[in-house]
Amino acid sequence: MTKGFYITTPIYYVNDVPHIGHAYTTIAADILARYKRLKGYKVFFLTGTDEHGQKIEKAATERGRQPKEHADIMVENFKSLWKALNISNDAFIRTTDKQHMEVVREILMMLYQKGEIEKRVYKGMYCIPCERFWTEKDLIEGRCPDCGREVEYIEEENYFFLMSKYQTSLIRYIEENPFYILPESRKNEVLSFLKSKPLGDLCISRPKHRLSWGIPLPFDENYTTYVWFDALLNYYSALRYLASTDSEWWPPDHHLIGKDILMTHAIYWSTILMACGLPLPKNIFAHGWWTVKGAKMSKSLGNVVDPFEVIKKFGVDAFRYFLFREVSFGLDGDFSEEALVRRINTDLANDLGNLVNRFLVMNEKFLNGRVIPTFIEDEFVKSFNSLISQIDNEALWDEFKFNIILDKIWEAINLTNNYIAKTEPWKLAKYSPETLPLVLFNIWNAIRVITVFLSVFMPDRTTKIWKALGLSSYSIDERMLSWRIDFKELKTEVVEQIFPRIELKKEKTEEKLQDLISIEEFSKIKLKVGRVVSAEAVKGSEKLIKLIVDIGEQRQIVAGIGKYYKPQELIGKYIVVVSNLKPTKLMGIVSEGMLLAATDADGAVSILTVDREVEPGSGIK
Ligand code: MSP
Repeated sequence: MTKGFYITTPIYYVNDVPHIGHAYTTIAADILARYKRLKGYKVFFLTGTDEHGQKIEKAATERGRQPKEHADIMVENFKSLWKALNISNDAFIRTTDKQHMEVVREILMMLYQKGEIEKRVYKGMYCIPCERFWTEKDLIEGRCPDCGREVEYIEEENYFFLMSKYQTSLIRYIEENPFYILPESRKNEVLSFLKSKPLGDLCISRPKHRLSWGIPLPFDENYTTYVWFDALLNYYSALRYLASTDSEWWPPDHHLIGKDILMTHAIYWSTILMACGLPLPKNIFAHGWWTVKGAKMSKSLGNVVDPFEVIKKFGVDAFRYFLFREVSFGLDGDFSEEALVRRINTDLANDLGNLVNRFLVMNEKFLNGRVIPTFIEDEFVKSFNSLISQIDNEALWDEFKFNIILDKIWEAINLTNNYIAKTEPWKLAKYSPETLPLVLFNIWNAIRVITVFLSVFMPDRTTKIWKALGLSSYSIDERMLSWRIDFKELKTEVVEQIFPRIELKKEKTEEKLQDLISIEEFSKIKLKVGRVVSAEAVKGSEKLIKLIVDIGEQRQIVAGIGKYYKPQELIGKYIVVVSNLKPTKLMGIVSEGMLLAATDADGAVSILTVDREVEPGSGIK
């Protein structure tokens, strides 16, 4: 039997509606699942919902519903979001599925009979929102160390999974398998936690009279099982009734999770599997969190990003693209509509959209839309294909380096745009008609290969591009990654802008009376004309440029304009400098002033210059 590729997302709580965080993990899993399918793997991509426990019971009661009734309603929000986001999951598990519950009981019984579970008195704290037990020592100022909320004191007889005895073997396992927990920094967190104190045993039950909304223990029906024990087992139980039996799926290739649930996976889940005698997953990858304007999303702040809204306003592909281009997967990211619009206008509309639409128009005009395969190994083709082999490096994908992959895809897009600028096909039509089809074919072929890669990130728009390229009778698969395919009789088709620009309405800035300043206050700011003497990019930063500016004396200024200006083009410019700012440090480099620049609604930056050459150091009033 062949080994399949098995990837999972967390199963989400149905206490509330899905938000951008849930979308993030699920889209990431979708991107990798799509790439693996493209590469010919047999994929099982699992997502689902976590429906037992106190948190869900409470949410249901608050709405005057029975827990199952509540879950049945809420689960539809997740299912319809995955549809709207083009998620290609192969199965959807609910922990209230009868078959899942049977597997959980079977495993509990097996562990109990093996002596891995024992009854003891439990004394300690419990956090309902996190569904986790804590010891007094774990608490921070008497509150849950994870979410900061109040905890409940509990003292009762309970069943314990004897997790502590696996401490040493788990440390060894993590150390011997460098890819088990990623990113590296998360692995180190888990290791230092495991090495810092003796690991306790895990309380896995609640008396039924306190929590009836759970799976009863098979060896003592007066208790229900701890929600995490039930939830984690979904990764295993799903294979028993939701996966095809034509491949071997265990162990999973990736459990994709957010950093908030790293410990429950890295420690509880790993030790449960050890006790079951099952091989551990190949990888647990914990990604970072999205904040909104720097703040954690929360209902009380009213800043929760609704993915349905974002899709409606900006389109599903732009949203999927933004999440993975903007920040490196693993780190935290900040969501704002301004940043999303900037990405749409620059990367999608300008770079990609223009490439496709310009090409389609030229091909229509000069070749009546015909595609005439002619293969030459010129500089462009060579550089393009070298980029393609870097993008198609599976190691990058297996470590979720999506932003690096996208950077490289954009290098390929820009290379193709530069090729058009250099070859000027509209001139070839007049002066060298015999080379024109060859150049246009290179562009067509480049767009085709780029589209194949982009299809895993943006499955919606890429289908439109594919069709416009004349390829609707071909499926987007691995074969389509090769440069040399002798397509016969294809015809391109001019279409509307693939990614239209978006104009964010400028908010009218009404200056209120209390915002006005006096002339004395204004005159405190010393503005001077400066001539840029030298400029260089700051290493390790996309944005910062270090300038030496002559303002009568030489000043070093670090400015965040790198996305809009190349260092060379700044040299010799006469700019406006705030000369009496307190020096500050940016990425360790001293900046002794600030240059003035305008920022438009898209965030694009334009430096202020003076109309005529004036003596550097001249004052501005
Ligand atoms: N039910 C448990 C998981 C059990 S898995 C066996 C759970 N559910 S949850 O609904 O709270 O979802 C948590 C997951 O949602 C996180 O691990 C992460 O994948 C995602 N996110 C929730 N908020 C997030 C952000 N603000 N940013 C990014 N992802 C976050 O925990």
